[in-house]
Amino acid sequence: MPMENYEYCNFEEMRDILSLDGIRALVIGAASGIGLGISYGVLANGGTVMAADINDKALEKLRLSVDGREGTMYTEACDLTSVDSVRNLYSAAIQKLGKIDVVYVVAGIDPVQRIENFDYEAFDRAVELNFKGAFIALKEIAVKIGKAFNKGSVVLIASSLTQRTEIGQGVYSATKGAVIQLARAFSAEMGKYNIRVNVIAPGIVETPMTESLRKDKKSYSECAAKSPLNRWARVKDVVGPALFLATEGASFINASVIFVDGGASFIDNRFIPEI
Ligand SMILES: NC(=O)c1ccc[n+]([C@@H]2O[C@H](COP(=O)([O-])OP(=O)(O)OC[C@H]3O[C@@H](n4cnc5c(N)ncnc54)[C@H](O)[C@@H]3O)[C@@H](O)[C@H]2O)c1
Repeated sequence: MPMENYEYCNFEEMRDILSLDGIRALVIGAASGIGLGISYGVLANGGTVMAADINDKALEKLRLSVDGREGTMYTEACDLTSVDSVRNLYSAAIQKLGKIDVVYVVAGIDPVQRIENFDYEAFDRAVELNFKGAFIALKEIAVKIGKAFNKGSVVLIASSLTQRTEIGQGVYSATKGAVIQLARAFSAEMGKYNIRVNVIAPGIVETPMTESLRKDKKSYSECAAKSPLNRWARVKDVVGPALFLATEGASFINASVIFVDGGASFIDNRFIPEI
């Protein structure tokens, strides 16, 4: 006998599946750009945030900017490249939030340089933050969340430059590609703790990181033209999927990479034949 539709799902189940009400989020790299947007997004949608960043002054600005608004945002200085600093952040976050439902690993740098001119110090800094920083966050925070709470969502920020790369982006795209593979293996290891691990891969986003390129009109429009939508991503375009990954509605999304690039990774929009 076939089952009735309402035996597969019911109306009440659909309530709150996109809600962030009461969610407790830890955001690393929270004081600028995408991390700032995610912090605002969680707060504005009923969650509590522990905003962490290496930049003390920018963190203080962030705290002041939410003063008097609904919800609670805590701030904590943290250097994602330091194991001790990240361990302290976990303790501070648990002390303030009680529990962590979602951790966003956002901090990153993009030193653009041809390999022939890349200096080794710059190489080490990029690997230390983009790749080792992600590893430290997974090991020192996400594992502990899994063991302590048996539930959680981890969101790492990579880049659409993991699909294709460009002159000067070799080191950056390699570190971000490494983040994707790390996330996949980690999601395999953490399934037993009910931890989901996903990656967001943005195209070019309007943030302080890309300011110099954005200010140059020609570079701006040429970057925009790579996507069929013919524009750059705004911070909120990345915040939407980042928040979604923390909701009940995303509870079966695991080991995935969500491209937020207007289609640019899979479509070259720069030549359009006359058809
Ligand atoms: N902006 C883009 O076009 C773009 C595109 C794809 C991916 N991304 C990625 O998104 C993430 C955020 O980029 P953004 O554009 O918002 O950058 P951003 O420069 O605006 O912000 C980065 C934040 O990370 C913090 N940070 C730097 N080093 C840190 C450390 N050691 N410990 C803790 N925090 C540290 C900075 O202080 C800053 O607040 C990065 O991983 C970046 O690679 C950005």
